[in-house]
Amino acid sequence: MKLAPSILAADLADLGRAVALCEEGGADLVHVDVMDGHFVPNLTFGAPMVAALARRTELPLDVHLMVSNPDRLLDDYLEAGAAWVSVHYEAAVHLDRLLARIREGGARAGVVLNPATPVQVLDAILTELDFVLLMSVNPGFGGQSFLPYVLDKARRLRGEIDRRGLAVELEIDGGVGLGNIAQVVRSGIEVCVAGSAVFGAADPAGRMRELVAAASS
Ligand code: DX5
Ligand code: ZN
Repeated sequence: MKLAPSILAADLADLGRAVALCEEGGADLVHVDVMDGHFVPNLTFGAPMVAALARRTELPLDVHLMVSNPDRLLDDYLEAGAAWVSVHYEAAVHLDRLLARIREGGARAGVVLNPATPVQVLDAILTELDFVLLMSVNPGFGGQSFLPYVLDKARRLRGEIDRRGLAVELEIDGGVGLGNIAQVVRSGIEVCVAGSAVFGAADPAGRMRELVAAASS
């Protein structure tokens, strides 16, 4: 299992410290939630912020684009140094072209599905993906409750990926914490995003290690 702490839940006035904590806690990725105030009702990090974070850490930046028009913004985030980039299925008109551009830009390409979007929409495009990000909350805010029915989507998609012998990784985002991470991993998820579970703890680096330990329990 890979752990991707979401810095949305960190002290936003001290993001340099947030990525340092990710390194200290042994995180595999740093999850960066880009919100445009249009696709989701919240506004967060622009490309210059991502570039500044990339200068601060060797950890790969996992950039989750919650934006209405990913076509228009994608190149800025690729140039900023994103290592993993995911675009929402619900926001993409020309998904194949977006994914090709992500890969040409040297990043790993992913598609995000909102909780209500069925995994079957990915059938045709699965071979062009490096990863799928399943939202287990409605995107826009940290600290929401995990939607358990998303585990069925994870199991179904994991089955399909394995049946076709593909190397697509499965990531989950929203409401993951000590109480459910083992169950999440058992459903076939390899990458867990955790925001408030990590940065809401008194010792975020220690909590990252606890989450990794709990995942294999
Ligand atoms: C929600 C974001 C998540 C969020 C997760 O729109 O995509 O990455 O930061 O936060 P928690 O882990 O607190 O649900
Ligand atoms: Zn996210």
